[in-house]
Amino acid sequence: MDFEQFKFPRTSQLPQKIAFQSTSPSNIALVKYWGKADIQIPKNTSISFTLSNCYTSTLLKLEAKTKTEEKTTIEVELDGVSTPSFHPKIEKFLKLIETYCPYVKHYHFAIQTKNTFPHSSGIASSASGMSALAMCIMQLEKKIDPAISDEFMLKKASFLARLGSGSASRSIEGKLMLWGKHEQLNQSSDLYAVALNKDIHPIFQDYQDSILLVDKGQKKVSSSLGHSLMNGHPFAEKRFEQAQENCSELLEILKSGNIEAFMTLVESEALTLHAMMMSSLPYFMLMTPNTLAVLNAIWEFRKTTKIPVCFTLDAGANVHLLYPKKHQQDVHNLIDESLKMYCENQQVIHDEVGNGAEIIQIK
Ligand code: DP6
Repeated sequence: MDFEQFKFPRTSQLPQKIAFQSTSPSNIALVKYWGKADIQIPKNTSISFTLSNCYTSTLLKLEAKTKTEEKTTIEVELDGVSTPSFHPKIEKFLKLIETYCPYVKHYHFAIQTKNTFPHSSGIASSASGMSALAMCIMQLEKKIDPAISDEFMLKKASFLARLGSGSASRSIEGKLMLWGKHEQLNQSSDLYAVALNKDIHPIFQDYQDSILLVDKGQKKVSSSLGHSLMNGHPFAEKRFEQAQENCSELLEILKSGNIEAFMTLVESEALTLHAMMMSSLPYFMLMTPNTLAVLNAIWEFRKTTKIPVCFTLDAGANVHLLYPKKHQQDVHNLIDESLKMYCENQQVIHDEVGNGAEIIQIK
């Protein structure tokens, strides 16, 4: 694997005091990443929709250390409130990226971050959070070396985001992202995600994702524990093979716009992810009775109306409803009349595919 390309060759003149801002969205996997080697090297290729309304906005304020200062200070504010519980994750991230971004050693970090979605909504904020931070760091790199191309900036942002959280690598660009080496795609890599912008059928260009917040509680299985459950899992090898095949099939579906095949593949991926959790040791059941009630209601609705709405799940009880934009009204009615009642405080977030991280110019 070509790690060398990401090493920053020289530490030239560094700005003393500077700030950068970025936004970056969450993403929802269609083919799931579940199982990894260190550090966030995926055991299989995954493909996701980048989202739009669910995003993190991060302001990174940097101040150069004095010559005698060794220790890096880190301050993190979430929604304007100091959040020291984030420090270990940020510290670990900064340590990990030092080899590739040696300039980070020279700064104190103050991070102000906020999410457009509720913190304890069960929506993972690590993908949007780590990718937003990675984009801020790449803005610093570009400031130090203005010669780096925009293309490299995005690629390395995805590479850095991956070191923070695997799925974060897929949030930098849109609208569909593929992460992990796949034999059918020369430019694919285990180190960063690539955008699938060629040959995408128009139906997928504005696909909708309504997120039903069935259980807003803290994650029952941390992602690190979750992925480690695939080490020595009796079905692991078969699952990794299946994911590669599903990526090949999905690449075809994304070209052809075959919605029936799309729904079958996406639902099967979601249920397989949960089947992996149910059949690991220790085993976990993350779907709740309300999740199952929603899935049954979706199947019933699809059967009677022929409206192509399907679901996917991440490692929790919440349900993502995926559907073409032209069916938005019908699906919103379905949610209001029959699905909302299964959500905590009847909460639903309507989202759609989006374009990835953005740089916000600070005036
Ligand atoms: C079920 O990216 O959260 O959402 O790399 O350990 O940070 P780490 O894991 P994370 O795992 C996401 C798992 C998933 C499936 C997916 O997004 O592909």
